[in-house]
Amino acid sequence: MRSLAEKLCREKSLSELEFAALIAHRDGETAKYLASLAVRERERVYGRDVYVRGLIEFSSYCKNDCLYCGIRRSNKCAERYRLTKDEILARCREGYALGFRTFVLQSGEDPYYKPETIADIVRSIKSLYPECAVTLSVGEHPREVYALWREAGADRYLLRHETADAEHYSRLHPKELTLESRMRCLHDLKSLGYQVGCGIMVGSPYQTAEHIAKDLVFMKEFEPDMVGIGPFIPHHDTPFAGEVRGSLELTLYLLSIVRIMLPNVLLPATTALGSIHPEGRELGILAGANVCMPNLSPPDVKSKYNLYDGKLSTGSESAECLSELSNRMEKIGYRVALVRGDVKK
Ligand code: 5AD
Repeated sequence: MRSLAEKLCREKSLSELEFAALIAHRDGETAKYLASLAVRERERVYGRDVYVRGLIEFSSYCKNDCLYCGIRRSNKCAERYRLTKDEILARCREGYALGFRTFVLQSGEDPYYKPETIADIVRSIKSLYPECAVTLSVGEHPREVYALWREAGADRYLLRHETADAEHYSRLHPKELTLESRMRCLHDLKSLGYQVGCGIMVGSPYQTAEHIAKDLVFMKEFEPDMVGIGPFIPHHDTPFAGEVRGSLELTLYLLSIVRIMLPNVLLPATTALGSIHPEGRELGILAGANVCMPNLSPPDVKSKYNLYDGKLSTGSESAECLSELSNRMEKIGYRVALVRGDVKK
């Protein structure tokens, strides 16, 4: 495995078969070695700065029925809420005062918000806080809609591809959702000039080493600006309630590989990672991540955006506790940087 790890470091890529072998035959020693290389790369590009994003989950309604997700349409037990424009702006005000310079607006795919409504919200945020970045994460839309939001001032867009294998994709999603359409969206977003994030859940049902290898080859080729990687965590009211969750160790291993392969990528230590281990975020940073996305949703809805069981929204996961996150990062030799934190090209 050492020779494959060295090759990855030298060539910044591997073939699909080599990636699959690096994943299937991983061991603790290779993981340590990859993490050390990943940290070296991350320090070269971003130093020891950890970028933070204020995450505003503004609607828990979703018209989709993804089998893994707790806010899927057919989960009748999910608590639903929507934030108004004023409520969203109030969260930005709070976040700005706390020091956040990127706001991420995330929601289920909720047609209640018309394209123009979202555009209006983006325009307002950008005119109130011109030095801040706005990231949207609101799912699949026609190119014209992405163009409208980009013109309104949106800087970045997060849309995980979930898996680059069409067959695997079809086992995680209802038939209306296709990998082809997801890929169309990602390419549209990129061509419109967004900083684009793709990504996967680690250990999603039916996922194999070969699938992950495909994901890595896709990422290398697509060159995303951001990559979201977190463990799959079952939600009790979904068809995947009884599935096993993804492993901490494989998630960290993949963070390291992605950092080495795409040295400039913005790579969050995700909420899901923080939710499966008390020091998940720290471990993510020490594996090569450089972003944290504390929750900036209003306190009364924080627990309702339940994508999976045990999702953290308090303590260091909460934007209000930025100082706690800062302290925790300082303990491992990093510092929270209160800047926009764009991708370095
Ligand atoms: N476990 C982990 N991550 C999940 N997501 C959705 N459901 C789950 C789950 N059960 C992730 C998906 C989605 C992102 C917003 O949250 O990858 O793209």
